[in-house]
Amino acid sequence: VRMAVFASGSGSNFTALEQACREGELHAEIVHVITDKPEAYVIERAKQAKIPVTVLQPKAFVSKQAHEHAIIDTLRASETEWIILAGYMRLIGHDLLSAYPSRIVNIHPSLLPSFPGKDAIGQAVDHGVKVTGVTVHLVDAGMDTGPILSQEAVRVVEGDAESTAEAIHAVEHVLYKETLKLLFEQ
Ligand code: GRF
Repeated sequence: VRMAVFASGSGSNFTALEQACREGELHAEIVHVITDKPEAYVIERAKQAKIPVTVLQPKAFVSKQAHEHAIIDTLRASETEWIILAGYMRLIGHDLLSAYPSRIVNIHPSLLPSFPGKDAIGQAVDHGVKVTGVTVHLVDAGMDTGPILSQEAVRVVEGDAESTAEAIHAVEHVLYKETLKLLFEQ
């Protein structure tokens, strides 16, 4: 399975998946990393892992459509089969969705449909819920709304977004590879 990972930030989920592929735990290969942010730390991680990385900033294009077409060209060139979103902070538009129908996966740090969108961990802590978690889902046109593939609960550390985030990330790094493994075996 040829995957492209999309990320806008640190890329710890990228690293977890890259390691799972390298160690043969996940029968897949990350063929490309795509980011919309030239300062994203995932770029360093991709370089260290010797995986091609392309920065495509939306502001360099006249429209969202043009941006997505540049992404699609990059994906076609690397024969990408699946798109794996890992902290990619932008909605996927119509053209990219139709180029990869039911082949785009996202991980979100809450038990969806609770706390979609940005800062899901902060939202959960601020709301005072006792349990939050991680969701892996297929991507549709909405914000964190597509069909759910897997979920795992994580206890909230009361009033402490940082410790809660740490616990969530540890779960993400296991749940993402396990979910993709099952998905690719289908
Ligand atoms: C993760 O919490 C993921 O669920 C969310 O963005 C974060 C990315 O973290 N969509 P990282 O860049 O993989 O470290």
